[in-house]
Amino acid sequence: LPTHYVLPSGDKIPSVALGVWQAGKGEVGAAVKAALDAGYRHIDGAWRYANEAEVGQAINDSDISREDIWLTSKLWNAFHAPEDIEQVLDETLGNLQTSYLDLYLIHWPVAFKKDTTEVDEDLTADPYPTWQKLEEMVEKGKVRNIGISNFNIQRVQNLTANPLKVTPAVNQVELNYWNPQPELLEWSKAHGMPLEAYSPLGSSRQVKETLQVPEVQAIAKKLGITPAQALISWHVQRGTIVLPKSVTPSRIEENFHVHVLPEDLFNKLEEAATSHPPQRVVNPSKDWGLDFDIFDDYP
Ligand code: A2P
Repeated sequence: LPTHYVLPSGDKIPSVALGVWQAGKGEVGAAVKAALDAGYRHIDGAWRYANEAEVGQAINDSDISREDIWLTSKLWNAFHAPEDIEQVLDETLGNLQTSYLDLYLIHWPVAFKKDTTEVDEDLTADPYPTWQKLEEMVEKGKVRNIGISNFNIQRVQNLTANPLKVTPAVNQVELNYWNPQPELLEWSKAHGMPLEAYSPLGSSRQVKETLQVPEVQAIAKKLGITPAQALISWHVQRGTIVLPKSVTPSRIEENFHVHVLPEDLFNKLEEAATSHPPQRVVNPSKDWGLDFDIFDDYP
């Protein structure tokens, strides 16, 4: 299975990352250390996770040089206004103790007014001004690649209809057995925009059930690997970058080892995942009091 994918910039992004959403303060540093020791060279974080300083410290404490680690962070909803972006990016860079990010994503296709959770209608409908500022951050060398997260096809098209100087390098979305998004995956491949799979095991809410899926169990048994390894391998074999989260050193080590799945077993799992009604595990639309669903098409 591919250890890296090549992005439009020519940069190589490692296919398996440690995800640090829901990795709490006091545990995330040890998780990053365990990941680097296990061979991971890709950490997927965000300003919003409120743990970047501890991630940065763990990276700084390691012997691995900065150029050998792929660092992703994300622009939070409350800072989409072009005049707010550089400051919050600088905060992220400071916390991570680095002068640049490998990848910076628009965390959600929803803009809030500064320091609020009130929707900024204009910047939500049209993220181009936000994107232009991110392009400027690329020019300044503060980020090497920029991308998006949680964008459906319509929202990607809405953004890419503009005369972009830098096209979105990736789209990071929920992908797991419950919500495998085959249409988005196919469309993204056809448009040369790799997907990154968050909550690849179904996140803490669904992980137990995911590991028990019969097709997953069958792969694990046949190949002598764990159910989590079967799932993470499935994601890479589908052509996505995969971001499993764990704060447990043994699981972190386990999750890094992917295996090629025999075609018939891969197809059976793909078939099982895509033949039940999709069930999204993560959707904050209601929590944010939105009067629309983030993942629906515009009316
Ligand atoms: P923990 O962090 O306590 O180790 P996802 O990557 O889909 O967001 O899933 C994260 C959830 O899955 C967390 O609850 C994490 O627990 C758990 N998890 C991660 N890796 C494994 C594994 N190899 N086996 C079992 N559970 C795992």
